[in-house]
Order: sequence, then C-alpha cells, then structure tokens
Amino acid sequence: MVTTACVTLAAVAAWAQTVSGASVLRRDSVPAGYVAAPYYPSPHGGWTSDWTAAYEKAEALVSSMTLAEKTNITAGTGFFMGSALRVGFPQLCLQDSALGVRSTDHVTAFPAGITTGATWDKDLMLARAQAIGAEFRGKGANIYLGPTIGPLGRKPRGGRNWESFGADPVLQAVGGALTVQGVQEQGVIATVKHLIGYEQEMYRMYNVIMPGYSSNIDDRTLHELYLWPFAEAIRAGAGSVMAAYNAVNGSACSQNSYLLNGLLKDELGFQGFVMSDWLGQMSGVASALAGLDMGMPGDEQIPLIGTSYFMYDLTRAALNGSVPMDRINDMATRVVAAWYQMGQDADFPPPNFSSNTDSATGLLYPGALFSPSGVVNQFVDVQGDHATVARQVATDAITLLQNNGSLLPLDVSRPLVVFGTDAAVNPSGANACTDRACDTGTLGMGWGSGTANYPYFDDPLTALKNRSTGGVTYHDYDSWPWFFAPSQNGDEVAVVFLSSDSGENQDTVEGNHGDRDSAGLAAWHGGDALVKAVANAYSNVVVVVHTVGPIVMDSWINLPSVQAVVVAHLPGQEAGQSLTDVLYGDVTPSGHLPYTIPKQESDYPSSLGLRGFALGQVQDTYSEGLYIDYRYLQKNGIAPRFAFGHGLSYTNFSLTSASIAVVETLTSTTPAARAAKLATPTYSTAIPPASEATMPAGFSTIWRYLYSWVSLSDAEADIAASSTTSYPYPAGYSTTQKAGPPAGGAQGGNAALFDVAYSLSVEVTNTGSKYSGKSVVQAYLQFSSSSTYDTPLVQLRDFAKTDTLTAGGGSQTVTVQLTRKDLSVWDVVQQNWVLPAGLPSSTRYTIWLGEASDQLYTACYTDTLTCESGLAGPSL
Ligand SMILES: *[C@@H]1O[C@H](CO)[C@@H](O)[C@H](O)[C@H]1NC(C)=O
Ligand SMILES: *[C@@H]1O[C@H](CO)[C@@H](O)[C@H](O)[C@H]1NC(C)=O
Ligand SMILES: *[C@@H]1O[C@H](CO)[C@@H](O)[C@H](O)[C@H]1NC(C)=O
Ligand SMILES: *[C@@H]1O[C@H](CO)[C@@H](O)[C@H](O)[C@H]1NC(C)=O
Ligand SMILES: *[C@@H]1O[C@H](CO)[C@@H](O)[C@H](O)[C@H]1NC(C)=O
Ligand SMILES: *[C@@H]1O[C@H](CO)[C@@H](O)[C@H](O)[C@H]1NC(C)=O
Ligand SMILES: *[C@@H]1O[C@H](CO)[C@@H](O)[C@H](O)[C@H]1NC(C)=O
Repeated sequence: MVTTACVTLAAVAAWAQTVSGASVLRRDSVPAGYVAAPYYPSPHGGWTSDWTAAYEKAEALVSSMTLAEKTNITAGTGFFMGSALRVGFPQLCLQDSALGVRSTDHVTAFPAGITTGATWDKDLMLARAQAIGAEFRGKGANIYLGPTIGPLGRKPRGGRNWESFGADPVLQAVGGALTVQGVQEQGVIATVKHLIGYEQEMYRMYNVIMPGYSSNIDDRTLHELYLWPFAEAIRAGAGSVMAAYNAVNGSACSQNSYLLNGLLKDELGFQGFVMSDWLGQMSGVASALAGLDMGMPGDEQIPLIGTSYFMYDLTRAALNGSVPMDRINDMATRVVAAWYQMGQDADFPPPNFSSNTDSATGLLYPGALFSPSGVVNQFVDVQGDHATVARQVATDAITLLQNNGSLLPLDVSRPLVVFGTDAAVNPSGANACTDRACDTGTLGMGWGSGTANYPYFDDPLTALKNRSTGGVTYHDYDSWPWFFAPSQNGDEVAVVFLSSDSGENQDTVEGNHGDRDSAGLAAWHGGDALVKAVANAYSNVVVVVHTVGPIVMDSWINLPSVQAVVVAHLPGQEAGQSLTDVLYGDVTPSGHLPYTIPKQESDYPSSLGLRGFALGQVQDTYSEGLYIDYRYLQKNGIAPRFAFGHGLSYTNFSLTSASIAVVETLTSTTPAARAAKLATPTYSTAIPPASEATMPAGFSTIWRYLYSWVSLSDAEADIAASSTTSYPYPAGYSTTQKAGPPAGGAQGGNAALFDVAYSLSVEVTNTGSKYSGKSVVQAYLQFSSSSTYDTPLVQLRDFAKTDTLTAGGGSQTVTVQLTRKDLSVWDVVQQNWVLPAGLPSSTRYTIWLGEASDQLYTACYTDTLTCESGLAGPSL
C-alpha cells in the first residue's frame, strides 16, 4: 500500500521556541500615531472576472459540504490537511520552500531568491519558477510556500532577506510576480509570504514571555515599499498568501483586520486564501473575522496536543453564531476556488514523498501516539533538466564588483592558491546540517525553512581543479598561519573565499539568531583578516564572496593586491562551474547587486538595525519611512562602497538612441474610477443543524489529530446559545459587505494603475573588442522638484537584460515601461495613488537609464518626450 504523506516541517521547528498560547488578544501599546484600525467584514472572494469560473465551481462544491467539511478544509489536522473526501475535495499538500521542495530527495536545490534577483533577468526568473513548479507538482505538492517577498531587506542584518529578491520594491515585485506566474503555470498554488513587516527574525513570535514584535509602519511607506511586491504578486494571480508572525501597529498579522480584510482582500483584490504561518495563529473567532482563511498547521501554539483554534472550535463558533456562516462559507470557498483556479481538480498527482523520513516506509500518521507504517516515499526524481536553469541563474547572478588591472578573467594556465573553507563542500556532506543550519563549507543557501536538500553539490574547489591547467593549491583554513605562511612564488593568483550566513530564528548559528546579530556585516570566520593577510603575501588577489546580503569590505577593498572582487551570492547546488565559467571568461559576468554595499554599517540610521529585547512587545518603528538602502544613502549624500545595481563586466556597453513614447495618455492625476465588484457566491446563512457537525458513528479518531467534528451535546448547546449569548465583537465590527476602496477594483488594485503610460527604448552596444556579454538597463524615476510630496531622489521602476551581445559592436534595443502607479505616490488623505506633480505631459518626470543606481547618464523626460545622454546623473 502506498500512502500519501506531505507535511511541512516548519511546525516542528517553530514549536521549539513557542512555549504556550499568549494572551492572544492582548495588544501592547505602540508608539503614538500608529493605529490598527478595524476593518470588517472580511470581503467575500470571487468578485474579479479572472476568478469567476473557479468560484462558480467552488460555489457548487461548497454548497454540498456539511459544516464539519467546511471547517475541515480551513486548517491542518496537526500534520496533514483536513479534507472533504465525501464531496471529492482532497487533502492538500503544503510544502516549503521558496528555492525547491524541502526535506526530500531527488529535487533541485535552486539558487536562492537573492541570487535570482541579482541576475536582473526576467526570463530567468520565470524559467526558474517554472522548474520549481514542475518539481512541486512532480512530488504531488499542491501548494508551494513561496515566493518570499517579505522581508524586503530593510535591515541589512535581517535573517531571511536572502529568500527574497532584493532591497527594492520593484526588483522584489518583478521577482515575486514572475515566480507566482511560473509556479502556477504548472498548476501549483503559489503562496506569497510573509505579510508583512517581517524584517527581523529575533522576537518575531508570540509566546508566554512576550508578544511578537510590532512593525509600526505608516500608510504611505507601507504602500510604496512593503505592500508593492504583494500587489504585483496578487496581480499575477497568486492563489495564497501567508500572514507573518509579527504584528503590524500592535495587531498580529494573522488577526489584523485592517491588513487582511482591508488592504489585502479589498484594496489589493486578493481572491485566494490567507493562511497563518506555522503556529502563528493566535485566536479562533477573532482570526476568522479578521480575514484568516486557513490555520496552519491547525494546532494552537503548542503543537500535537490536540488543541486548535479552528477545526472543532471553528465548528462550535459557527454553531453558536459567533462566526457567521457567511464567513465560514467564504473561507471554504476561497480554498476550493484556488484549487479549481489552478486546475488541480483535473489530474493533480497525490503526494509521493514524506518530509518526515528518508526511508521508503514510515509512519502513516506521523505525530500520532501509535501509528501503522506503510510506504511513504516513492523517491520520484523530479529534477528533469532543471540543473541547467539552476546553473544559468547561478552564473548570471555572479556580480563583479571590482576588477582593477583587468586581473579577471584568468588564464587557465595561471597557477592558483585558494584560501578559505568556503571554497569546498562541507567535509561532512552538503546536507550534513539539518536545514543547512551551519556555515561549514561553500555557502549555497541560508538556513531554516527556506531550504532544500542538495541532490549533489558542485563546489568551487572541484570546479577550479577541473579547469585549471596551471595547478591549484588549496589552504583549507580561515585563519592565517603566521608561522608557516605561504607567499607569492611566481605569477600565481590567490583566490580567497569568504562567506556570510543568516537564516531563520529557530536555529542559532555561530551566535547568530537567524539575523546576523553577532557577525554583523563582517565576513564570517575572520574572513577580513584572512583577506588582509593574503593580500600582504600575494600581489594578485581575487576575493569570492558567498553571502546572504551586504558585507562591509572597507578594511581590505583598497589594498593594492585585492584586484578583483566577485559576489557569487547563494548559488544553490551549482556553485562550482557557474563560478569557474566567469573566473575563466567563458561567461562574462552580468549580475548586479540587488542591495547596496555600504562603506560601513553606521552609514545607515539606527532604525535599520536590529531591535533588541524589550519588556513587553518589541517596537520596530519604521521611522526612516521610504528611506532604506540606496534611497537613504542618496538622500543623505552618503557614497556607498558599491551602489545598488552595480555590476561590472569584462566588456563595456554604451547606451545610445534612447527614446520615450506615450503609450496611454494620463489625463487625470488619480486613476479612473475602479470597477465595481462582481457578484460573489451566495449560500444560506442559517446556522446548520447539529447533524452537520457531529462525527459519524464508528469513526475512530487518532489521538493528537485535530478534527472538525464536535459532540452532539456540544453542538446542541452551541446552537441553543446562539440565540441567547453574543460574542464581544471588536469595535467597528460589521457584517455588511463593502463596495471596496477607490484604490481597489482588480487583482493588485485598481486596474487603471497598471496602464502603461510610457515606454522607453534604448540601444545597448557592446563596445569592447574581446568579450561578448550581457548588459542590464535599469530605469529609475525622479519625481519633479515641484512635487509637494517628499520623495526619494530616484527609485527603480523597471529593468531589462540584453541577450549576449558580441564583442565589437553587437547591439540590441531594449524596452522598459512605466505604469501610472510607477509615476504615482500614495496619498494618505485621498487614500489613492496620485501623480504628485500634476500630469506628466505638462510637468517633467525624469526617467533615468543606466547600468546602476550610480551610473545614470541618460535621462528621458515626460513633458518634452525627449532624451539626453552624457549627463552627470541625478542630484538632489
Ligand atoms: C498603521 O498606523 C498608521 C498610522 O496611523 C496607519 O497610517 C497605517 O494604515 C496603519 N497600518 C495598519 C496595517 O494598520
Ligand atoms: C477531515 O479530514 C480528515 C483528514 O483528511 C478526514 O479523516 C476526515 O474524515 C475529514 N472530516 C470530514 C468532516 O470530512
Ligand atoms: C462560540 O464558540 C467559540 C469557539 O468555541 C468561542 O470562542 C466563542 O466565545 C463562543 N461564543 C460565545 C458567545 O460564547
Ligand atoms: C508520484 O508521482 C509520480 C510522478 O508524478 C506519479 O506517477 C505517481 O502516481 C505518484 N505517486 C502517487 C502515490 O500518487
Ligand atoms: C570538468 O570540465 C569539463 C569540461 O569543461 C566539464 O564538462 C565537466 O562537467 C567538469 N567537471 C566538473 C566536476 O567540474
Ligand atoms: C580599484 O578600482 C576602483 C574602481 O576604479 C578604485 O576605486 C580603487 O581605488 C582601485 N583600487 C586600487 C587599489 O587601485
Ligand atoms: C571600458 O571603458 C573604460 C573607460 O573608457 C576603459 O578604461 C576600459 O579599459 C574599458 N574596458 C574594456 C574591457 O573595454
């Protein structure tokens, strides 16, 4: 017998730090001015035309469900999902991670999100996602718990920044939306996470000692930075959203009605379902009313003791009238509609793997006290030819920061002396550390739930030895051996490998609690000292960095022998040949930084640092507003070491013949009125009879599993109570569906926001004589100085990567686009997107084109529809 088994393990990990249910409705006070306003009721799903067919099918199916079936599919049973098999709705399999199928075998360990962002290549972002989606489908996983598009990378030390695409809302949005598209094309439901303000690992979760931290974010900053990627991912049709562990404005994300009902479901027009992060649910009635549709993994905050806020308790809350049937029906319908929307009713394979064991057989009811065993793993190989796209992403992400004297590319005959333990695979094996919670050997990904097992690991040292004809000497240490120090002995090149790691808070690695709280932005294992010592002993030094985010390089970057610096990001399984291809010049580097590398961490304000322990709720106030990463440094005139978007090549490119054209003329400063909501499914709102809630006779339950049934006596008592007692609803509670805000109207927001206003073209030419290569054109918007809104100097709005252009004049014309939303700011009074300086046909909005945020020499103007080149760049 083969039995399906699919579990995400996040629960087990997260529970280690969750001691018990906190006083869940408690709200600590937040700084003055930050408010978690009520927004009720939860908007029905099904009002956009692109989901109509799925909702019609879902309505038919949910109409035939009993109450206990509806509440069974809106939570996990502790391990597996609940199902409604009587009416043909299966147990869905939800599975980590954003970079590949977690905790199983025969899968590809893709490059991480941050690596993908560093390619600045939309085609590769999509191709990677299609391959990831195919692997989830091949393993029978219905729901991909990715992409990660929050954290945004507000804090350089933040632990999970590497799972997402870069410290800019547009780069993050493009990566996120293309990942949703590629994964869902395979019929797998994508889950965009984590909504929202999840910019630090430490103190993220609610427990008996303290609530999770509160991210206090003002409305404009939320819209223009943190919500922007979510809007684009939802516009791409995301079927699911995961609420973050932390609070926003004092109210936990999984029960924040303004966030889930207001911003996500009404303004952004999200039609799928919202799940909690594992053990991030803290209430039953309050969460359901606030818009949570699925509790994961079903348990309360201590897993596997058989208690739940949803399941049987949600059934009771429906019977006693506290959660209206209207809401229960919508919760179930959203889950079923997402399943139909991806076509999973047709031929979706059931899971054929278990993340609980590597063996063929295992417990059929993991987590139960007693469980029969059976076949749980079929070892289905889903890798296909995905190593090709994984390697392409790893290669095209490699970012050349410095190449003085054109030391790179190297000739294969040049002898190499390699330093640093990061050069070779973990001697205990690439997967030796569970969830990659160690920084031993080449760093291919960060740690935590955002990981996958390597099927193999192509490490740099092996690849160098394979390619080099001049010989490779390896020194597998990170501390310089002063007494037996090697030194220059011919024309050899010294290659120093550095790493900097981070991950999820349940594991502490070398004193770092997920975030880089102990290491800061320095290279790990004393890497800075190693570079200095090597640079002292050798005259030609290449530094290769595997890192989760920015590291500060200023203690060695200007040493004369440190000629070349290459950031290989987190390459996943394809760390070796991707690197040698670039070092030896088979491929010209074309990656660009998805974040800024500052000269020193103190160049950023303290609000961008980690928040430490505090009594009560840790308050993380976004006092810097819009000014993170390059936006902050530019505003304050602080030169970065390497700017956001920076990346050198072995060749040079020119941008010529820039032009700008109007696509859709903007005739008003706010978008046209939104579309009205279409009709949504209708069901009886009567409290169902007790018979819909009770367990069938003879059903034998498994201890510690969660069920949606209640006893007949409880059901009858709840129904009786429904007419006599009433729930203490929060202020602002209502059951009347709203028309929705002006900024809404379609998936992602008012459709008029996404009208393309301007299209810009520029010809990119490879002017070098020796190396072919790819170039990236980045488009940054500068608002008019007549805008009365405070705005950053420039902000990325679109980008395009060329194909490989041949040396000696190979050229290509690339196009970038700006939508109405790209040209707007969020007006907190009007609660709408507004062109801040009037119509761009009469006021100048400047669009800068260039190869990095500090290499902007071409500008196009919306008022004259002309472009100029040879400029000095934007200034304040
Ligand atoms: C947080 O508070 C600010 C200031 O009152 C408000 O503008 C914003 O909308 C609030 N955000 C949420 C998610 O409640
Ligand atoms: C809920 O799901 C579980 C697990 O799939 C199943 O055993 C049980 O019968 C389901 N309950 C209902 C009411 O369908
Ligand atoms: C109805 O049941 C739910 C779940 O047990 C409970 O949280 C809620 O307080 C009950 N409502 C009333 C009015 O007692
Ligand atoms: C596992 O996946 C393979 C390939 O998709 C499929 O043929 C097989 O039926 C699946 N196993 C089960 C138990 O469904
Ligand atoms: C060694 O190099 C050859 C030729 O470039 C390549 O085909 C092969 O895959 C490489 N093997 C390893 C282990 O790097
Ligand atoms: C290397 O080149 C960079 C960029 O041109 C320059 O800023 C730096 O000073 C150079 N370093 C050395 C040691 O010459
Ligand atoms: C690129 O252009 C710069 C400045 O003109 C020049 O110094 C450099 O040698 C060129 N590099 C290549 C590879 O052509």
